[in-house]
Amino acid sequence: MKVLIVGGGGREHAIACAVAKSKKVDKIYCAPGNAGIAGVAQCVDIGVMDFDALVSFAKKEEIDLCVVAPDDPLVAGAVDAFQKAGIRAFGPVAAAAILEGSKAFSKDLMKKYGIPTAAYENFDNADEAMAYLENAKMPIVLKADGLALGKGVLICNDLDEAKAGVKEIMLDKHFGDAGNRLVIEEFMTGREVSVLSFVDGKTIKTMTSAQDHKRAKDNDQGLNTGGMGTFSPSPFYTKEIADECMKTIFQPTVDAMAKEGREFKGVIFFGLMLTQDGPKVLEYNARFGDPETQVVLPRMKNDIIDVFEACIDGTLDQIDLQFEDNAAVCVVLASDGYPEKYEKGFEISGLESFEGCDDKFVFHAGTKLSPDGKVLTNGGRVLGVTALGSTLKEARANAYKATQLISFENKYMRSDIGKAIEEI
Ligand code: AMP
Ligand code: GLY
Repeated sequence: MKVLIVGGGGREHAIACAVAKSKKVDKIYCAPGNAGIAGVAQCVDIGVMDFDALVSFAKKEEIDLCVVAPDDPLVAGAVDAFQKAGIRAFGPVAAAAILEGSKAFSKDLMKKYGIPTAAYENFDNADEAMAYLENAKMPIVLKADGLALGKGVLICNDLDEAKAGVKEIMLDKHFGDAGNRLVIEEFMTGREVSVLSFVDGKTIKTMTSAQDHKRAKDNDQGLNTGGMGTFSPSPFYTKEIADECMKTIFQPTVDAMAKEGREFKGVIFFGLMLTQDGPKVLEYNARFGDPETQVVLPRMKNDIIDVFEACIDGTLDQIDLQFEDNAAVCVVLASDGYPEKYEKGFEISGLESFEGCDDKFVFHAGTKLSPDGKVLTNGGRVLGVTALGSTLKEARANAYKATQLISFENKYMRSDIGKAIEEI
């Protein structure tokens, strides 16, 4: 069969590698893809939001299955556009992707169905938000309602910071229309865990857990980024916690969406905080996480096409989702200065050391091919170096060793990805 993957980052590279392992697949396209994805798929120069061009390409090439990976096209209705044209597509329709597209929607859903999350209020008006803050407990969390490249969350330590945050989001429109509404949320403490899951509208099957590192610098200092590295599984997410989450969070979310007439098919990513009062939802994403996917999919045993098809067909209950009993660590190699100012266009060397390996991988995030065939840096996050190991410690050592194989000018990485696992 022919598969079209929509997207062009490290997550899509990991998805493309998983799809390439399927015996059912003859040909993979990726729009727009990147220099690394070009090694497993044919890249097509179509933007992820150009639905007309994506649909006509899929029709012309007689694509059997489209996989939409990023949040923007999902929330804007890419899956709806494919379906309307009679093309099978994996991912939630827009009515369901709102689970990620509107934080106010997701908070209201959790409140209505009693799904544990931080206490909150939604605001459409900056004056009312400011007034509410006067009596609120600090620190407090402000969240732009809409999509903001993962950056629309501000943790404010005092009233002045919080008021400045409301101004930034609602008045100065730092995140554009995403800030028309604001969620103000109780600050929670605890360990974070990411749980990705496949959903077919009624059945949910969770993947192995992971933990991201969102801050740019070691010891969780610096600005929030798209993610600087991950490990999987999370040793803090025990079987007991997983069972509790299934009862109080995972299945109730899927059922709530169905009850609301927003049947969810695709991947739900649960961003959880393990608090003293039990696990609570930090956020929902309506898609695979990045860079969680880079440590989760290399550990998956199933043929991913079988799982995608089961989600679309509503037969996920017949899939026995299985993961290797090993561990993976992904260290993101970024351009120094990310997420603020950085230079790009530098030649990357050492990529060939990963060719043909099945225990270490280099997933491309921001790269491009020069006209003379060199791979150049082309973004803030450049590569995700993932290594497997029989334990987390081994995977971590392998991943950091593998980062030394790659060089480019202004290469930057955190040195403490997965350090927490050394402490247990
Ligand atoms: P989000 O995009 O909603 O995942 O938020 C980004 C990051 O902000 C999360 O990974 C947490 O580290 C932090 N965060 C979000 N909401 C809260 C909260 N209510 N309490 C504490 N930290 C939070
Ligand atoms: N790693 C967090 C995300 O994909 O949103």
